[in-house]
Amino acid sequence: MIYSTLTIEAQGTTQIITINRPKKLNALNQGVMSELDQAIDAFLNDDSLLGAIITGTGEKAFAAGADIQEFTGLDAAAGQALSEKGQKLFFKIENSPKPIIAAVNGFALGGGCELAMACHLRVASNNAMFGQPEVKLGLLAGYGGTQRLVQLIGKGKATELLITADMISSDTALRFGLVNYVVTRGELMDKCHEILNKAAKQGPLAVSYTLEAISAGVNGSDGYAKEAELFGKAIVSEDAKEGTSAFLEKRRANFSGK
Ligand code: COA
Repeated sequence: MIYSTLTIEAQGTTQIITINRPKKLNALNQGVMSELDQAIDAFLNDDSLLGAIITGTGEKAFAAGADIQEFTGLDAAAGQALSEKGQKLFFKIENSPKPIIAAVNGFALGGGCELAMACHLRVASNNAMFGQPEVKLGLLAGYGGTQRLVQLIGKGKATELLITADMISSDTALRFGLVNYVVTRGELMDKCHEILNKAAKQGPLAVSYTLEAISAGVNGSDGYAKEAELFGKAIVSEDAKEGTSAFLEKRRANFSGK
């Protein structure tokens, strides 16, 4: 598959998906959104890949939002459809059974912040800035931002950011719990690889069940029921037999993902 707005590279078991529209600060136009959809499908369907990193080209932006040029001339139905399409893609990312990390290398605004929030976790470079400035345009966040920002940083802080259009620095994002780590630009990808490599050493089925249980809870189903159901499935898995035997035999587990 040849992409025109993304670059894709596999490093070991990790797929690196880079949004590549640096002149437009990696703004998420429909071309990027549809290629991102295809890139996520390709990642999900490739069993040799255990995790992914989404980032942006250059030093300035992860993604400076949905492409504002595409907002003009839409009627209400088209606006709703645009929002639903974006939400669907970001749900696909959030519901991925393999971990996806946002490596936030600069501005993560509007749809860019929403994309980062749809990833399972976020690592930021120290120049990163976060915000939901849609209200400045007379709009609101439309790719899940009103929901995920609340989940991640709590209702009070999220409401303030969503109604004031304030931008926050990476350090504030760290303090708010929006990002897991802040590192230098040079360390950004290494930190993401380090996290994914740790996860890749665990039972793959258990990692995917864990992500599924977390998603169930934050998306309004009974997360506890899902957790118990998946615990039951995990306990009869080959991976659990191997993991527990390896512990008792004082050796490293060799998981099959079954
Ligand atoms: N959609 C479309 N184009 C965008 C964009 C977006 N969300 N964000 C930036 N761009 C474009 C600019 O129009 C400009 O294009 P041009 O060179 O053809 O004029 C280019 O990217 C560079 O941006 P510029 O504004 O010149 O950079 P800056 O350093 O002065 O400002 C930002 C950076 C991020 C503060 C500013 O670009 C901005 O406010 N962007 C919009 C953020 C936003 O509202 N996002 C939510 C959208 S729903």
